[in-house]
Amino acid sequence: MKLLVLGSGGREHALVWKLAHSRHVSRLWVAPGNAGTALEHLRVSGGPVENVPIAADNIEALLEFARTHHPDLTVVGPDNPLALGVVDRFQEEGFTIWGPNQRAAQFEASKAFSQEFMERHGIPTALSGVFTEPIAAKEFCARLNGRCAVKADGLALGKGVLLTSTLAEAERAVDEILVDKSFGAAGSQVVIQELLEGMEISLHALCDGRTAKLFPTAQDHKRALDGDLGLNTGGMGTYSPAPFLTDAELERVGQQILQPWLAGCAVDGIDFRGLLYPGVMLTASGPKVLEFNARFGDPETQVYLPRLENDLFELLMASVGGTLDRIDLKWSPDACVCVVAASAGYPGPVTRDKIITGLDEVAALPGVKVFHAGTAHRGGHCVTSGGRVLGVTAWAPTLASARDRAYAALDHIHFEGMQFRRDIAAKGLR
Ligand code: AMP
Ligand code: GLY
Repeated sequence: MKLLVLGSGGREHALVWKLAHSRHVSRLWVAPGNAGTALEHLRVSGGPVENVPIAADNIEALLEFARTHHPDLTVVGPDNPLALGVVDRFQEEGFTIWGPNQRAAQFEASKAFSQEFMERHGIPTALSGVFTEPIAAKEFCARLNGRCAVKADGLALGKGVLLTSTLAEAERAVDEILVDKSFGAAGSQVVIQELLEGMEISLHALCDGRTAKLFPTAQDHKRALDGDLGLNTGGMGTYSPAPFLTDAELERVGQQILQPWLAGCAVDGIDFRGLLYPGVMLTASGPKVLEFNARFGDPETQVYLPRLENDLFELLMASVGGTLDRIDLKWSPDACVCVVAASAGYPGPVTRDKIITGLDEVAALPGVKVFHAGTAHRGGHCVTSGGRVLGVTAWAPTLASARDRAYAALDHIHFEGMQFRRDIAAKGLR
């Protein structure tokens, strides 16, 4: 089988790494990929994974590539091409592609869509309102005493959520989104939620339109600095499983969210074939969904896929084909930890083209895999080319040993300005 994977981040390197292990995959292109994806080899043939210099959201160029090379399956990593309708366009031309269609991708592309869906179908979520008018929005903020999560409706590179603790802050956040249009068209509507307290976890469920298969838990670390301080980022590290729910509790939480979600999709005629990623707060009054994403998490994928024992290609084909009910997901009992090494300045503007050293030494360590994100090959070196650069990932029988392994591996790696959090998985070890 010939596969085309879209995207260039750590998530996509993990997807490519796992798909390259599949006994079905004989050719694998990545558009555009990164320095790490280009180093992977296929288990079947030993042949290399091939990077293709096409951006993941250049749909016309991707279609042209597909017409020439006829991939048997295209796998979409990031949210942007999903929101642009890449799945619909590929399907119109008869290509098999994994990911939700444009309508189903609204769960991520529009927070207002998701919030209204959750309320209509009884999915546990924060008390909330959706507004286009600043005055009405501010009245709602006042009802919440200014303790709000103020969210731009559309995709905003993970930056469109402002958490406020006073009414003045909340009113400023509303103005920033609705009046100043700091997030452009993504801010034509605003979703305001009550500020929830509790432990935040990531859930993932692979879906085929009728069946949703829940993954184990993971926890992300969104803030830039240790102790959950600093700015919000795309994610500075993850681990799985997160020990805040027993297996039975996870099953129950999954059902509380996924059963009404599946039933709601059926009623509304939404055919979601892809990965549903609810961000969930475990509050004193039960689990509450903060948001839905319609793709694998980054860096959650980096800790899920080393634990996944199924052939990922088979899972994705079952998701596309509506046969997930016939498959059981199998997970290694190992814990897995991913620590993100980021460029100086991240999540703001970053330095680039810094030479990365130590990758060869780390490649020889057992139970360790470095997933690349913002990397490129230049002049015989692997160099930095983005904010999040590497996801140093390790697995071991206990969370503490996996954490120690990941940090021991990170000790070998260097690039100028490298920053990372030293407390990944700490909450899970307390
Ligand atoms: P979102 O993109 O909607 O997940 O929001 C980004 C981050 O903001 C989440 O990962 C949470 O850490 C935080 N957040 C979002 N909504 C809320 C809320 N209602 N209460 C508390 N924190 C929130
Ligand atoms: N881990 C955060 C995200 O993928 O959105």
